[in-house]
Amino acid sequence: MSGLSQLLTRGILCLCILPIIYVAYQRISSPLKVVPGPYLASVTPLWRVYHVIRGDWHDQIVQLHQKYGQYVRIAPNEVSTISPSALRVAYSHSGSPWIKDTWYQTWWGPSPYHPAFAETEVQRHRIMRRRVSKLYSMSYVLGMQCYTDRVLQRFFQQMRSLRGESTNMTKWTQLFAFDIIGELAFGDWFGGLDAAKDNHQLGHWVFLTITAHASLGWTWLRAGSVFFFPVRLLMNRSLYARARVQITTFPLVERNTLILQFQAMKNPDGSVVHPREILTETANVVLAGADTTAISLRAVIYYVYTNPRIYAQLLREIGNATRLGKLSPIVTFQEALELDYLQVVIKEALRLFPAVGYQLPRLVPPGGATLGGYYFPGGTTIGTNAWALHRNTEIYGSDCDEFRPERWLNQSDPNRLRMMEDCYGSFGFGSRTCLGKNLALMEMYRLLPTLFRDFDVEVCNPQNPWKVTTGWFAFSNEFQVRISARDDVPPLSHGPVASGKANSVTADHE
Ligand SMILES: *[C@@H]1O[C@H](CO)[C@@H](O)[C@H](O)[C@H]1NC(C)=O
Ligand SMILES: *[C@@H]1O[C@H](CO)[C@@H](O)[C@H](O)[C@H]1NC(C)=O
Ligand SMILES: *[C@@H]1O[C@H](CO)[C@@H](O)[C@H](O)[C@H]1NC(C)=O
Ligand SMILES: *[C@@H]1O[C@H](CO)[C@@H](O)[C@H](O)[C@H]1NC(C)=O
Repeated sequence: MSGLSQLLTRGILCLCILPIIYVAYQRISSPLKVVPGPYLASVTPLWRVYHVIRGDWHDQIVQLHQKYGQYVRIAPNEVSTISPSALRVAYSHSGSPWIKDTWYQTWWGPSPYHPAFAETEVQRHRIMRRRVSKLYSMSYVLGMQCYTDRVLQRFFQQMRSLRGESTNMTKWTQLFAFDIIGELAFGDWFGGLDAAKDNHQLGHWVFLTITAHASLGWTWLRAGSVFFFPVRLLMNRSLYARARVQITTFPLVERNTLILQFQAMKNPDGSVVHPREILTETANVVLAGADTTAISLRAVIYYVYTNPRIYAQLLREIGNATRLGKLSPIVTFQEALELDYLQVVIKEALRLFPAVGYQLPRLVPPGGATLGGYYFPGGTTIGTNAWALHRNTEIYGSDCDEFRPERWLNQSDPNRLRMMEDCYGSFGFGSRTCLGKNLALMEMYRLLPTLFRDFDVEVCNPQNPWKVTTGWFAFSNEFQVRISARDDVPPLSHGPVASGKANSVTADHE
């Protein structure tokens, strides 16, 4: 008996002493002790988890860097940096020993298959990326453009029917983005725009899935996150079933879809890939490709319609193009690529409001690294968060908080412009930039100029336009606007009408 109680006492003593030793190590002996940051962050990863749960990390990280400088210790073994030189090292191109951090394992499944973006092993990632990259290339995206006509048409019909009512733009942009993904991935939309509501509750499940996985990624629970929040249980089963049916009925699908293309993927030895890999890549498109685009659309809409000078300038550019007969009733991707001002407006809005609100963490390679005068041992996590990086005055100037698209056009110093471009992280950095970038741009470059030309939008609460909750994606909710069609523009029905399935307005363009 006394032996047992002695053991218990020792155990309890141990339990009390271990954390003290741990804290002492982090403060006194850890090589990261010299990196500034909040005290709690240096001794426990829970400090960051607290902010992740609050959903204010995109805001928190900006404040941290304003307070502490270019390097901030945000967890016992993790540093956030907004230094351009560190960025060049940590996110450099192929052949670099810097790999993605274990955070990405939160996206791994119990099977050996995970989406390309979550693969940390360099060689395997290269193979996975190569076999899907064709699908996201410019020429391929231009070829898929015709499948977005029907969705855009329906979106603008719905906007027209609102006639100045106050409406939830978060909802509309989300329905739009999911319907487009449905068309591109499965060959049919989800029907949300038609029903004016998310009848599959996709938005809800996707947000929950993303937030759960991304947040658990910061803790050791990431290893098991797939068992708590398996993507396929959270995604509406009807969606999953649809993907499965298409995968098994491969030859019956009558038009080009992403699923069809994923199906054509080959392993390096020429063998066909496992159906679960196809499913994984497809689910990835739905998870990563819809909300990010919708968030970006909201950002551009907000910044343009609350800046009369910029909106007027945009309308002049659009007006010029219209007079020359260069704009279709629904602007095409190619047409928008001729609108220089529009492009910097979009770029600038995404600088101030990047869709991803977390760092993109990387691992310091085994030999360690010295950056900004600090030594980081191998295995330290270092990451950059676009929200903070894009507000670094050394890169974007003292007016970096201002929405000023001209900064991209009117930059007299070419070195400064190159640095601004290199540090532009709205689609990630280096060899791991977002695969779906062209796809996202195509959607935005079509919807936005058409909206600016044809609609007046009043943001209901310009000082506080939305409520942002970050769970990997910085989700801007409750974006209320009043929208009305402009009288001086003929309604869409005067133009060519899309046939619904394909080959319409834009299919024969160029
Ligand atoms: C607005 O739409 C979003 C996304 O569908 C939804 O989460 C939110 O609850 C909606 N807000 C209101 C007030 O209906
Ligand atoms: C899935 O979608 C169907 C409609 O397709 C809907 O009736 C059902 O409630 C959804 N299930 C979940 C769990 O969201
Ligand atoms: C519109 O066209 C006029 C005349 O060609 C030109 O002077 C002006 O710079 C153009 N404006 C924009 C914004 O492209
Ligand atoms: C562009 O720069 C020139 C001088 O370099 C300045 O006069 C002009 O006002 C700037 N334009 C804008 C729109 O900022």
